[in-house]
Amino acid sequence: MAIRKPMVAGNWKMNGSKELVQQLSDAINNVKSAEIDVVVFPPCPLLPMLTATGVTTGSQTVSENKPGAFTGEVDAQLIKDLGCQYTLVGHSERRSIYGESNDTVAAKFARAQQVGLTPILCVGESEQQREQGQTELVVAAQIDAVIDKLGLAALKDSVIAYEPVWAIGTGKTASPEQAQHVHKFIRDKIAANSSDLAQGLTILYGGSVNEKNSELLFAQPDIDGGLIGGASLKADLFTAICESA
Ligand code: G3P
Repeated sequence: MAIRKPMVAGNWKMNGSKELVQQLSDAINNVKSAEIDVVVFPPCPLLPMLTATGVTTGSQTVSENKPGAFTGEVDAQLIKDLGCQYTLVGHSERRSIYGESNDTVAAKFARAQQVGLTPILCVGESEQQREQGQTELVVAAQIDAVIDKLGLAALKDSVIAYEPVWAIGTGKTASPEQAQHVHKFIRDKIAANSSDLAQGLTILYGGSVNEKNSELLFAQPDIDGGLIGGASLKADLFTAICESA
């Protein structure tokens, strides 16, 4: 973990309220430091309020399109204009519930970078895919969709989050060994073409991270921090996770 600056990101999903912003923003601001990046992804309507408190923020998705007739979509440029620095792309809930394909995710990644947002590319296999021994195949295809569209160098200004679908919101965390194995696979895959890029790339783990398991997960050599769901909604849990990074 020493080579790269650790990052802990909180994905509030479709949870939260103005009250939660008030409750959590001081704690989040207190825990960030020169040694750790802390980023929060609240629902879009809360972005202006949370960003105004000084918390580093991002959106949970962006449209792959430029402004136009896309009712209900959110333009990446507007997210950037709010003062956000990041966006998630390809979260497994977006892929499974809203049918986002690898190609769509790659297009969102491209649009995010075009406006100056740093995309956090979420990848990960389902339980069935893992049981069938397809974890590496699935993760590689999710990353290759971006590389094929934009070239390897596009990964330089991005973050990858490995979130096994079977570990999300289930309380069934990947063991540190399981997570490290996939993180190393990702880093080695990129190192095959650029060792510098691979060594500089931040790779987060997500999936039932809590204040009890975070320290061991983050101690793995290729795990640079976490993308936290449920535990990011509680100030004490989220700050304890940040402190363990
Ligand atoms: O993006 C974070 C995520 O999907 C993990 O959620 O609740 O298992 O920490 P959770």
